[in-house]
Amino acid sequence: MRVTMIGAGYVGLVSGVCFADFGHDVVCVDKDEKKIALLLDGKMPIYEPGLDELVAQNVREGRLSFSTDASQAIRDADAVFIAVGTPSRRGDGHADLSYVFAAAEEIADLMQGYTVVVTKSTVPVGTGDEVENRIRARRPDAEFAVVSNPEFLREGAAINDFKRPDRVVVGGAEDPRARKVIEELYRPLYLNETPIVFTERRTSELIKYAANAFLAMKITFINEMADLCEKVGADVQQVARGIGLDNRIGSKFLNAGPGYGGSCFPKDTLALVRTAQEYGAPVKLIETTVAINDDRKAAMADRIIQAVGGSVKGKTIAMLGLAFKPNTDDMRDAPSLDIVPALQKAGARVRAFDPESMEEAAHLLKGVEFASGPYDCVKDADAVAIVTEWDQFRALDLKRMKELLKAPVVVDLRNVYRPDEMRERGFTYVSIGRP
Ligand code: NAD
Ligand code: UGA
Repeated sequence: MRVTMIGAGYVGLVSGVCFADFGHDVVCVDKDEKKIALLLDGKMPIYEPGLDELVAQNVREGRLSFSTDASQAIRDADAVFIAVGTPSRRGDGHADLSYVFAAAEEIADLMQGYTVVVTKSTVPVGTGDEVENRIRARRPDAEFAVVSNPEFLREGAAINDFKRPDRVVVGGAEDPRARKVIEELYRPLYLNETPIVFTERRTSELIKYAANAFLAMKITFINEMADLCEKVGADVQQVARGIGLDNRIGSKFLNAGPGYGGSCFPKDTLALVRTAQEYGAPVKLIETTVAINDDRKAAMADRIIQAVGGSVKGKTIAMLGLAFKPNTDDMRDAPSLDIVPALQKAGARVRAFDPESMEEAAHLLKGVEFASGPYDCVKDADAVAIVTEWDQFRALDLKRMKELLKAPVVVDLRNVYRPDEMRERGFTYVSIGRP
């Protein structure tokens, strides 16, 4: 199959290289010239484990290429994927669909022969209908289908998630020609019996939001349990294990922390809330989830302030981790973006280290001193906060860290360390939802 991917971001690039690895001929197109120049130079515009090797291999074997110009790639394609961003629209929280519609119109103007237009971006219910209408308006005679194929990969584990998904969801592939293209694209997954769920297009669009909203709600549930644990003297990790072993609940996504962040849960929960309000069927659980999570992220700075005795004025706080989760350089809606300014406002100096996200963080956070490693970061600090659970922060030399810190205060927002061990080592240790 000849595949064109419009948008070479986290989803477009990963999906593109994985389709190439499945044996298809893939062109990844992006309007961002810097991104394409890097890719043409064999460099990755994002940090995602394993991506560079997989890209290099597929480029070498002639199945994967990159361009800023979509024209030839769209003309030749059997399937054109729309994998552009759908950020929150300023002011109202609806998904901004301007990039999706711009891509659809570009496809309309260029496609030749029967083409399957596949929306991989996360888009509100009804977007596929609008994409189809817009293409039809520009090309009344064109032969095409508009299919919804939402993506469920996680950053940091994206390649494995794409190649070994729990399921693939496809909406609106009623035309047998479209269905054949989709089946051919995902053939390796058919062969290993991955469930491929065919639905109507609107259902497929909603499945994506329902999945993200449910997961965001699950995290928020355990975060509230963590707060309760702190009051009643219980341990949230044991609560999570105790409920998670019930198969109906499941043990994943029950890690209490500073609140969910990232490029998707925050914007997708908000967009679902707006859609539901618009259709007169408000999703109050999700409205509450959004509010609780916003409050939680804002409250994390105070936890750090309390740990150092109620004031950070003139104190230095070391932050280990800035990205919204480990194994990514993505800073979008990261809890650190709430925590750092709040600490600075309260008078603290912030020194931070993150293995991958400091370049991006430097654009978003002002007045932060960036360190070259974890020990450099904690030197002479009045407290250290673990904000992202990178593996390298799980095995710190605690003796060395204690010697370097001005005061042995550790605020562990990811429950990386054991409270009893930390106390034995002489730390003042604060974590989430544990006695
Ligand atoms: P991203 O911002 O990393 O990438 C989007 C890319 O599209 C950018 O590089 C941008 O330059 C490019 N672009 C925009 N308009 C274009 C056009 N007309 N032609 C060519 N390129 C264009 O975004 P992302 O994180 O990859 O997310 C893309 C979509 O996938 C969103 O809807 C998101 O909700 C969804 N999604 C993301 C993830 C994730 O983990 N990041 C997972 C599942 C779904
Ligand atoms: C999430 C979903 O997991 C993907 O299935 C989905 O495709 C994607 O959004 C999307 O639509 O873009 P991602 O945002 O990459 O993926 O990362 P997650 O691993 O889901 O983490 C999201 C946030 O929740 C992070 O801030 C993480 O720290 C937090 N989290 C996650 C917790 O606080 N506790 C948990 O148990 C799990």
